[in-house]
Amino acid sequence: MHLAVIGLGLIGGSTCAAIRRVHPDWKITGYARSIATREAALARGLIDHAAESPEGIGAADLVLIAVPMGQFQSVFAAVARGRSENTVVTDAGSTKGSVVRDVEAVLGSIPSWFVPGHPIAGSERSGLEATNPLLYVDHQVILTPLKTTSPDALAQVTAFWRAQGARVSEMAPDRHDEVLALTSHLPHVLAFTLVHALSDDDEHLDIFRYAAGGFRDFTRIAGSDPVMWRDIALANQAAVLVGIDRFADRLVHLRTMIAQADQDGLIRSFERARAARELFKALSEQGAQHVTETHPSVFQVRAGGPLTGCIRVPGDKSISHRAVMLGALADGVTNITGFLEGEDAIATVQAFREMGVEIEGPTDGKVRVHGSGVDGLKAPQASLYVGNSGTTMRLLTGILAGQSFNATLEGDSSLSRRPMQRVADPLAQLGAQVRTSATGTPPVQITGGQSLRGCHVDLTVASAQVKSAVLLAGLYASGTTSVTEPAPTRDHTERMLNGFGVPVRREGSTAFIEGGQRLTATAIDVPADISSAAFFLVAASIVPGSDLTLEHVGLNPTRTGVLEILRLMGADITVLNPREVGGEPVGDLRVRASALQGIEIPAALVPLAIDEFPVLFVAAACATGVTRVEGAEELRVKESDRIQSMVDGLSALGVVIQGTPDGAIIEGQGAQTQFQSADVQAHEDHRIAMALTVAGLRAPKGVVVHDCANVATSFPNFVGLARQVGFPLDLLG
Ligand code: S3P
Repeated sequence: MHLAVIGLGLIGGSTCAAIRRVHPDWKITGYARSIATREAALARGLIDHAAESPEGIGAADLVLIAVPMGQFQSVFAAVARGRSENTVVTDAGSTKGSVVRDVEAVLGSIPSWFVPGHPIAGSERSGLEATNPLLYVDHQVILTPLKTTSPDALAQVTAFWRAQGARVSEMAPDRHDEVLALTSHLPHVLAFTLVHALSDDDEHLDIFRYAAGGFRDFTRIAGSDPVMWRDIALANQAAVLVGIDRFADRLVHLRTMIAQADQDGLIRSFERARAARELFKALSEQGAQHVTETHPSVFQVRAGGPLTGCIRVPGDKSISHRAVMLGALADGVTNITGFLEGEDAIATVQAFREMGVEIEGPTDGKVRVHGSGVDGLKAPQASLYVGNSGTTMRLLTGILAGQSFNATLEGDSSLSRRPMQRVADPLAQLGAQVRTSATGTPPVQITGGQSLRGCHVDLTVASAQVKSAVLLAGLYASGTTSVTEPAPTRDHTERMLNGFGVPVRREGSTAFIEGGQRLTATAIDVPADISSAAFFLVAASIVPGSDLTLEHVGLNPTRTGVLEILRLMGADITVLNPREVGGEPVGDLRVRASALQGIEIPAALVPLAIDEFPVLFVAAACATGVTRVEGAEELRVKESDRIQSMVDGLSALGVVIQGTPDGAIIEGQGAQTQFQSADVQAHEDHRIAMALTVAGLRAPKGVVVHDCANVATSFPNFVGLARQVGFPLDLLG
């Protein structure tokens, strides 16, 4: 194998050194503009030959272009002239849109032999002297192949970086540039600017002399190569400007708060930032490719062959949350297996860590919670940031209502729009002090130190989250707390409290709990999430010839509305090997393709299938006849307005669907349904993203679903499992 590296700075030089270690038999040709650098590389044994010009790469099998962005176009033109027929070319530029434009400017189109790439392993050190053979170990390399890129070239470049120890992922060039603008380019621009601003001061030497660790940490990256960062700022101009504007708005806002001595505002802003930073840390420490490996956000799927195989979807989200919460409040150590390693459940783990609970994991679905006892939580140092997770926010509000300390709960942009007064009101009946924003949305502020009194609460919404918040607050109330729900909702909290030794009595639609009891740690095996399985139940039903088995799915009767609805529509679903695991019924589900019929969805099933409606709408669109959903107004206040999101998405695919205030009317197109091709939006909503991806299985020309990053909140390995059973699914960003 003959490798050529153009540019022998930190990036190119480190690749030479890394390849020397893992492939000592490879021949390496190097080129750098400065003769001294070429000679130094030869002297250090990093390269075997020095080329006189970039054209001189001659017969190399693989060429890495690792030059500053400003030189890329001319170097690429020379490499294109000098390459031989089978040479594959990749690059290491920090922006990808500009690279693609430069290549187009040289050749008119993107050749199959070019694979744009970006090793994210820079450092403020630069030059050949900084070369490090381990630079890429455990670092990310993002490749941004285009439609024209040959799969062989992509495989070769992927293997090249993996051999150097890197973790390789793929993304669309534009998405890469947006993400890097915010996570890398903006911080560099800010660091340079801060140091520049301070150095304007005549006394700056004195200032720097007294600068402490904060200054050093924040400005470390201002020691980076100015030419490189000038080129990056200009090459990714549009996305960097968006980032700067966003930051400038925040800074002006902060200035106002300081000018007005707005103590509360400042605390809110700093606490939110601190909490978001802590969650980021927890997600990245988790090692599992969260955060550090950005989530794919654009899916492309098209009609294909039958879906087959046997898979286990991840752990139940509702049960995973509750296992951590009750484990944290219990006496003793709770071992959880099958835990959902999605962002929502990890937000719960992190919130309890911030209240002093020791929690190990998750690792391979295992979590060990060292309970602090029902009275052992500690005041968090800042607001608790729970990301996208409504369940964490609402159930925690119930727990926090009974603590001696104050706490504030915050969430991301989607959660910040969702109704929280529905928990604040019933908790107030127990004597809790819970404040939401003027519009009833987060942040939620809970004033501790209240003495809660057990009482009866009649819920006005059928919500398991609100019911659970009341029962959890009931643990801290004197006497009996009872809660009546207007329709049955999932009862995992009741079942799990029983499992932790706290009896919850049930009479009709009312659940009763006695305050002042202690919880005893237990072991929890979390079954696979029926809400995640639902995407595959519908997918296999609508793709002809499919035969799929979903293992170990939780079949709690308060969650199986989706099975009943699909069966009423004519789906072919069999429960195999029914059993009970840790107080929850479980079974394997075999689903085979079948012709579906439109139905009137029975009102009683709506709360029992509330999370599955997005994908049920897809089933309805493929059924023969009309399907009507009523009494599902709750869908309007989920992670997005799920009625509107699905009406928009399915209409774009050519489905006749009409949204109503509390549901939808969908005119099914029958067994031969073929959706038209379209670009659709998931609106930051994981279930909309996956439902529209399933719809794409009936679109011969494919569907592109945007804004899918939040799939990681509930179903981190959705793409992998979908591909495994046969979804023709590509990632475009
Ligand atoms: C959940 C209850 C439901 C559901 C959510 C999880 C829970 O919400 O939509 O995904 O774990 O209790 P509501 O209580 O708002 O209906």
